Amino acid sequence: MRRLPPVDARPDLTPRRVAESRITLAQLMGPVQANVNGNVHGGHIMKLMDEAGASVAMRHAQREVVTVAVDQVLFREPIHIGDLVNLTAELTYVGRTSMEVRIEVTALNLLTGANSHTNTAYFVYVAIDAAGRPAPVPPLQLESDEERRQWKAAQARQAYRLAQRGSQREA
Ligand SMILES: CC(C)(COP(=O)(O)OP(=O)(O)OC[C@H]1O[C@@H](n2cnc3c(N)ncnc32)[C@H](O)[C@@H]1OP(=O)(O)O)[C@@H](O)C(=O)NCCC(=O)NCCS
Repeated sequence: MRRLPPVDARPDLTPRRVAESRITLAQLMGPVQANVNGNVHGGHIMKLMDEAGASVAMRHAQREVVTVAVDQVLFREPIHIGDLVNLTAELTYVGRTSMEVRIEVTALNLLTGANSHTNTAYFVYVAIDAAGRPAPVPPLQLESDEERRQWKAAQARQAYRLAQRGSQREA
C-alpha cells in the first residue's frame, strides 16, 4: 500500500522553478482507445491531459491535488490508432493554493514521421491538506522572458475564471 509522506507536518514552501515539475508523457494509441469512427476517443486524450497536469501540480506542491477548472479543449485534428501521443505539461502560474498547468498534445505518426500539434489546454489544480481543504503551495520561480509572458497570460485567465465563478454563484 502507498504510504503518503506526512506533508501537513512538513510544508516546504521554498520557491521552485518551472523546470522542476515539468513532465512529458508518451502513449501509443491502440484499438482500445478507438471511438466509433476508428480514431482515438477524445475523452481518452482529456483523461491523459488531466493525469499529466495533476502530476505536474503534485510534483510542484508535493501534496495531493484536485482539478478545479479546465479551459476550453479544442481538437484541431483527429489522432489515429497507431500514433504515438506526447503530452508536455508545465506550470504557468501559481497562486496561494492553486496552480495553472499548460498541457500541449502532439501526435506522431511513427511510419511517416509526421508530427501534428493536436491541442493545447490549461487545467487548474488546487493543493489540498489531509482534510481536503485548500493548502498553500511553494511560489513559482520564473527564469525566462517566456515564463514571465506565460505567467501574465495565466493571471488574466485566472481572473476571468474567478469572475465567471462569481457570476455563477450569483445566478
Ligand atoms: C477545489 C476546492 C477544494 C476549492 O474550494 P473552495 O472552497 O472554492 O476554496 P477557495 O475559494 O479557498 O479557493 C481555493 C483556490 O482555488 C481557486 N479556485 C476556486 N475556484 C476556481 C475556479 N473556478 N477556477 C480557478 N480557480 C479557482 C481559488 O482562486 C483559490 O486559489 P488561490 O488560493 O491560489 O488564490 C473545492 O472547490 C473542491 O473540492 N472542488 C472539487 C474538486 C474535485 O473534486 N475535482 C475533481 C472532480 S471529479
